[in-house]
Amino acid sequence: MPNTVVLGSQWGDEGKGKIVDLLAKNVDIVARYQGGANAGHTIQLPDGRSFVLHLIPSGIFHNDVTCVIGNGVVIDPVALLEEIRMIEAEGITVKGRLFISHNAHLIMPYHKLLDKAAEARLMKNDGGSVGTTGRGIGPAYEDKFARKGIRIVDLLDRESLREKLRRNIAEKNELLEKFYGSVEHCDVDAIIAEYEVFDQEMDTYITDTALLLNRAIKDGKSLLLEGAQAALLDIDFGTYPFVTSSNPTAGGACTGLGIPPMAIDRVIAVAKAYTTRVGNGPFPTELLDETGETLRRVGREFGATTGRPRRCGWFDAVAVRYTNMINGVTSLALTKLDVLSDMDEVKLCTKYERLSDGKELEHFTTDLKQLANIRPIYESFEGWKAADMKGAGCREELPQPVQKYLAAIEREVEQPLEIISIGAGRDETLGAREVA
Ligand code: GDP
Ligand code: IMO
Ligand code: MG
Repeated sequence: MPNTVVLGSQWGDEGKGKIVDLLAKNVDIVARYQGGANAGHTIQLPDGRSFVLHLIPSGIFHNDVTCVIGNGVVIDPVALLEEIRMIEAEGITVKGRLFISHNAHLIMPYHKLLDKAAEARLMKNDGGSVGTTGRGIGPAYEDKFARKGIRIVDLLDRESLREKLRRNIAEKNELLEKFYGSVEHCDVDAIIAEYEVFDQEMDTYITDTALLLNRAIKDGKSLLLEGAQAALLDIDFGTYPFVTSSNPTAGGACTGLGIPPMAIDRVIAVAKAYTTRVGNGPFPTELLDETGETLRRVGREFGATTGRPRRCGWFDAVAVRYTNMINGVTSLALTKLDVLSDMDEVKLCTKYERLSDGKELEHFTTDLKQLANIRPIYESFEGWKAADMKGAGCREELPQPVQKYLAAIEREVEQPLEIISIGAGRDETLGAREVA
């Protein structure tokens, strides 16, 4: 299979885990390039078992696939080791198949405390919290860019680890206490004792993953590069400041793994047949009515990481056209089409109308003021209630109203829908064989 990036094209939870797992059987390596345990990627195996992965790449369920966690990821070693144990308890071999970049940054207990303290402060001051997952992601990336971060490689040198932890914890405790007025603080000795033994458990996984990946590219091996979060949560191209602190967009795959742009052959964007968002921030097609409730209930739209209800709305082609552009998307995987089967009517946002002067807008903006001054313009479709989608062996066998909706999405986002997902299972997918 050509080297492929699979990323989210909306606000996350599009079904990336399912699509990566599905395509992983055709590749040698699956590599995660950014984010951390804020991600929750669900994979449903043919035997009925279901897993939510936060850090381990979604290729782990294919025995001959090597999995890589790149330098762009921020790793909570406690969460990672727990995930490894959970997977191994289910009979899946992880040792010898999972490799972690020595340059990836660590998430520390103080990052999680700071994440929560910063959110609480925003709530108190102006009610404008981001609605983070509380996994310490923002503060860990802050330290990375402030050149204060502690990296995976530091676990292997106890003396230097202790020194760096002492310095950082003193600073963070001061910040927690004096700036945030928090009663919580970190105990230096307890954290040192907890973290200095991680070298034994982590050692077997740690390597120079950029070297591993570039050697694989040279040897003609095939790579699947797994994005977490999504393009509209991108720190540069998302709805800032209601975003995550990394680059889930395609460029992040190069910087987060140390591979050259020319090594990437194609970019598959995963999009839901409607839209969801967890956390705060603009969402032009959000439905705050019965229809939104129905989407949440039928689509089981509750966060895989935090359990929070996801905000739901119609498919926003203006937003997806934008993320297709930013990512150089070559095709789309459309998921959860089955969830729309309950609807009398299905709507697709094709343009926005600017409220102040009635002007029609075709291009997305990440400017919050402008986003607050628009309303979506919809094209409406007859529902396909009770029509049997599960029996379809290919897209052409789907009921006519469904085909009409799919063709309209393709027209509006200007890219082909190569994969269509009509259920959480691997086999509930149309078109995936052709994509390989
Ligand atoms: P990710 O973060 O992008 O990997 O997505 P999540 O795992 O957070 O959320 C997607 C949810 O939808 C998971 O519960 C999947 O099992 C489920 N899912 C994926 N594809 C489909 C589909 O086509 N239909 C239905 N009904 N569920 C799906
Ligand atoms: P996957 O990979 C959906 C959202 C949070 C919040 C914002 C910032 O499963 O699609 P953070 O904890 O990253 O600082 O939170 O980003 N968010 C996600 N939303 N899916 C995710 O991951 C997300 N990861 C972060 O809800 O709005
Ligand atoms: Mg998710």
